[in-house]
Amino acid sequence: MSGFPGQGPINRRRVILSLGGVVLSAGFGYAGGNAFAQAGKGAGQSYPPAPAIPSDAKVHKANLTAIRQSRQLAAPPAPPTDTLGYTEGPAIIRLQQGEWLEATLANRLQEHTTIHWHGIRVPNAMDGVPYLTQPPVMPGESFTYRLQPPDTGTFFFHPHCNTVEQLGHGLAGILIVEGDEVRPHDHDLVCVYRDWRIDVAGKYQLLTTDAGASKAGTFGDHRTINDEVQPVFKVPAGGDIRVRFLNVDMSRVVDLGVTGADAWVIATDGNPLPPQKLKSWRLGPAMRADLTLRMPKMAGTRVQLVNYYSAQPIVMAELEADGAALDRPDFVPAALKPARIPEPQIENAETFQLRLSASSVPADLPPDLVLPDGSTLRYADALCLTPKTFWALNGQPWPSASHEVLPPPLVTFQRGKTYIVEIINQTPHIHPMHLHGHTFKVIGSSKGDVVPHWADTTIVAPKERVKVAFVADNPGDWMIHCHIIEHQETGMMGIYRVA
Ligand code: C2O
Ligand code: CU
Repeated sequence: MSGFPGQGPINRRRVILSLGGVVLSAGFGYAGGNAFAQAGKGAGQSYPPAPAIPSDAKVHKANLTAIRQSRQLAAPPAPPTDTLGYTEGPAIIRLQQGEWLEATLANRLQEHTTIHWHGIRVPNAMDGVPYLTQPPVMPGESFTYRLQPPDTGTFFFHPHCNTVEQLGHGLAGILIVEGDEVRPHDHDLVCVYRDWRIDVAGKYQLLTTDAGASKAGTFGDHRTINDEVQPVFKVPAGGDIRVRFLNVDMSRVVDLGVTGADAWVIATDGNPLPPQKLKSWRLGPAMRADLTLRMPKMAGTRVQLVNYYSAQPIVMAELEADGAALDRPDFVPAALKPARIPEPQIENAETFQLRLSASSVPADLPPDLVLPDGSTLRYADALCLTPKTFWALNGQPWPSASHEVLPPPLVTFQRGKTYIVEIINQTPHIHPMHLHGHTFKVIGSSKGDVVPHWADTTIVAPKERVKVAFVADNPGDWMIHCHIIEHQETGMMGIYRVA
């Protein structure tokens, strides 16, 4: 990749003064954002045009103010933990299918940020990737996202730069697009799974480590659902419950199971599929599964959400039958309304191979330039700068220097055609691979049969090859990356183009 710091004439670089802060650190060691006021793609950069909301549209407005907030995560008497969030409290936006969302991000952080609407097939300009689809939103600034989510389902949103720090401190929100149920549930339960890298005193440990970033990721061990350890949710006895399970962790894999009741998977990454009896369903970071189940009739009886991805199954949360039992006919899991995603025409489709590997050139960044007066020069927006490179897509690591310096696309797809992407994992670690801009169908794996299902993120196990297919109908430059955030930020990220 060109554009490595230290190459090219100095006046072309966006030189900024280092504030001396190490970007990747525990706690709020932000390297500062105000110094980046000049950062951006420069005057020459053009971003894709934003869509306009039609005058007769139904619009849901949301204010999303990125702020510091404290949350009680560790058990008292530990003090609350300093976290980041969108507005006060848990940000859950619920829309009806067909509604527009007008969400204004106000940045009250000390560094720039954006919002990426994970899994939503948005126009390119609304995708929230700094430098690629929009300028970064600087401290004190705001940016309004306007989108009409085309698909129902369970989604989330998060920043897309310095994500280890921002998401690691809790900056994420949930977006639910309703309108997919044929038979309504008695209760709709959102379960947001993540662990926190905090100790028993509620203090952060290092959010990233070289050992983690170069292997399976760095893990916290404060495992929560909706910020609580093993919460118990009271739900109607004998009622039909929809569980929207989201893995928003940065590195944890969950094998989701249910004990105490039969459950069916009815949606993957928000997208409906014919109900599948749940044994366990593997969810990497960013992946979601919607379940349907019937609660036992006897009040006080509990059903467990269990993670089998560990030596001993771990109970993540419990549902407790509450109140007088609802009188319902025998339970038959109802399918959601089918997805409205264009069906890939797999016959004769071209295949693009995407190889996941360790970086061919594992590299530390060159040291900053120290000036005679002792100050330090950095060459790029240090916030989106990776300090190390461990991973690559098709031999190309990005960001190997800076997010700001865009690499050429790994591939260009012709608009309107179906493509098969064969993801080949040449590493000894799991990678949940995510494409922006399109929802794909997982159609095959070298490890055996797969239930074909729609997804925006799919796990590729060590030595596995997974085939996904989609109609490239959304023009623009889109990200493709691993959703283990430390992998993403140390090279396992690239761009694909639809033109
Ligand atoms: Cu949730 Cu680019 O990802
Ligand atoms: Cu990965």
